[in-house]
Amino acid sequence: MGELESKIAIVTGAARGTGASIARRFAEEGAQVMLGDVRDEAGEEVAKRIGAPATYRHHDVTSADEWSRMVDATLEQHGRIDVLVNNAAVLHLGTLDHTPEDVFRHVLEVNTLGPFLGMQAVVPRMREQGGGAIVQVGSIDSLVGMNGITAYCASKWGLRGLSKAAALELGRDGIRVNSVCPSGGNMEMYGPWMEQLATIATETRSYTDNRAIPGEVPKKVIADAVVFLASDRSSHCTGVDLPVEGGAAAGRFIPGFNTL
Ligand SMILES: NC(=O)c1ccc[n+]([C@@H]2O[C@H](COP(=O)([O-])OP(=O)(O)OC[C@H]3O[C@@H](n4cnc5c(N)ncnc54)[C@H](O)[C@@H]3O)[C@@H](O)[C@H]2O)c1
Repeated sequence: MGELESKIAIVTGAARGTGASIARRFAEEGAQVMLGDVRDEAGEEVAKRIGAPATYRHHDVTSADEWSRMVDATLEQHGRIDVLVNNAAVLHLGTLDHTPEDVFRHVLEVNTLGPFLGMQAVVPRMREQGGGAIVQVGSIDSLVGMNGITAYCASKWGLRGLSKAAALELGRDGIRVNSVCPSGGNMEMYGPWMEQLATIATETRSYTDNRAIPGEVPKKVIADAVVFLASDRSSHCTGVDLPVEGGAAAGRFIPGFNTL
């Protein structure tokens, strides 16, 4: 029997990258999955590849109306909602000086307001059912600060605060709210900045090298952590930030010091 047998889940931002991996792992573990995204062609393709347990719907997480429609469609098709995975997000690489106001607003709308609207949309139903699990895909950037990603960092710390408050408010309704905090996932997220990053390749490599477990974290490993927090095995975990980042937030790794 799978870890998520017969559970009904909504996964946002599931048209590619980590979200697509989460949807795939959920289906492997026995869940029925509603995939949402704004990239419809890619989303349809991911659902088709997963097969019968997956349904794709256009779903912009910044719209309360679209959340309503996603919840209605899920209930119509499956009759309940056991798990919400707030995975959809956008990145902006830019310092405080290079982050225009409209970009800052957009990043917060997708990464922080989106999950807020999602929780507001599913919680009444989860309460009626007697419980549910909400898993946020945060980031190492919700655990420590980082320069050059001002808006993203603010949005992910906001999401973390939102999750702590919601975990405290919803625990007595049987609803758990936890976060997976990865480093890495999908390089497509860096798409518009790849050329710029190539010019500072040595410095950016130190980002993944100078940690307890060096290198990129595979998407499947991030998805496995989401499966755990969505499953009944984590029944007494709430308000948790689960880092999946090779120990990057554990402290400073100084290569030379390992020889002392
Ligand atoms: N890529 C990384 O290095 C990294 C690192 C740490 C955490 N994360 C987090 O992992 C999660 C998944 O990111 P990813 O790496 O797969 O990146 P990604 O860019 O490949 O995936 C994000 C998905 O969200 C979708 N999306 C964007 N705006 C949306 C909206 N308004 N409504 C619905 N969907 C929307 C995109 O279309 C895309 O399919 C995100 O929460 C991200 O912040 C990523």
